[in-house]
Amino acid sequence: MSIFSTEVFKGKHALVTGATGGIGYETAKGLSAMGTDVTITGRKEDVLNDLKDEILKDVSDAKINIVVADLADASDREKLVQSAENSFGPVSLLVNSAGMTGGGVLEDLTQEELERVMHLNFTVPILLTQRLYDSMKKNKEGAIVNVSSLSGLRGTVGGTAYVGSKFALNGFTQSFALEAIEHNIRVNAVCPGFVDTKMGRDGIKSKGERHGRSFEEQLKIENESLPSGRISTPEDVANTILFLLTDAAENIVGEAVIISGGSLMR
Ligand SMILES: NC(=O)c1ccc[n+]([C@@H]2O[C@H](COP(=O)([O-])OP(=O)(O)OC[C@H]3O[C@@H](n4cnc5c(N)ncnc54)[C@H](OP(=O)(O)O)[C@@H]3O)[C@@H](O)[C@H]2O)c1
Repeated sequence: MSIFSTEVFKGKHALVTGATGGIGYETAKGLSAMGTDVTITGRKEDVLNDLKDEILKDVSDAKINIVVADLADASDREKLVQSAENSFGPVSLLVNSAGMTGGGVLEDLTQEELERVMHLNFTVPILLTQRLYDSMKKNKEGAIVNVSSLSGLRGTVGGTAYVGSKFALNGFTQSFALEAIEHNIRVNAVCPGFVDTKMGRDGIKSKGERHGRSFEEQLKIENESLPSGRISTPEDVANTILFLLTDAAENIVGEAVIISGGSLMR
């Protein structure tokens, strides 16, 4: 059986945060195509509805639960978990993709912005995972992918808050992976370089502005700097997440899998 076949996740329930964003959106589509019941969440209800319609066009019997939630808010997170479990039962596959950039260089960083970035990128995935951990332990089944970043592995100018939050997320991934594996729950992270999503395009635009270049000029430089010749697509990242969630990745535990067109070799 192909690891991406329609039967792979039959009967399982996946929760995808950041499903209104490029990476989460493609991951939710992939999970549905692989037979999973999926709870999708984000703050933009119209995008969640578009995603559901798009999935149903491809998989007419797909089971999709939409929950509009601001994950920074504890009551919204609880509402999300309740709705997910009431709709399709315990969650066994979790993709923590919601995230934000912010902060800038240290001189411009405010405590408020630092706390917002750390909260959403680091604290929220931990608290959401913790909330779902009991049922995964009880069922002795789970796979979790945290969407980290290449910025979780090396510093960048202007990244004091964002980079710090992603290093922290990788630290959580490693430590929790060690605790969870004895319950048959695998935890990993993906670490993309620039991805062609709103966040990635905004990042390339800001980098271009710092160097007096247009978005198009900076994008060309980013593409040409990579051995593969291009930044990643959301599908590149989603495919890696889907693989890590399958049993084909059974012996991949606590890893930070890089998807960056070979950037580390440049
Ligand atoms: N794009 C890149 O170049 C890149 C590179 C490395 C890592 N990443 C990581 O990839 C993940 C996904 O980003 P993306 O590239 O798909 O960017 P994106 O298209 O901008 O999506 C960001 C997602 O995060 C959600 N989000 C932000 N704040 C939220 C909040 N308070 N509550 C709930 N959801 C919230 C957004 O939801 P709403 O839009 O509905 O508010 C959206 O779904 C992030 O963790 C990011 O750090 C991205």
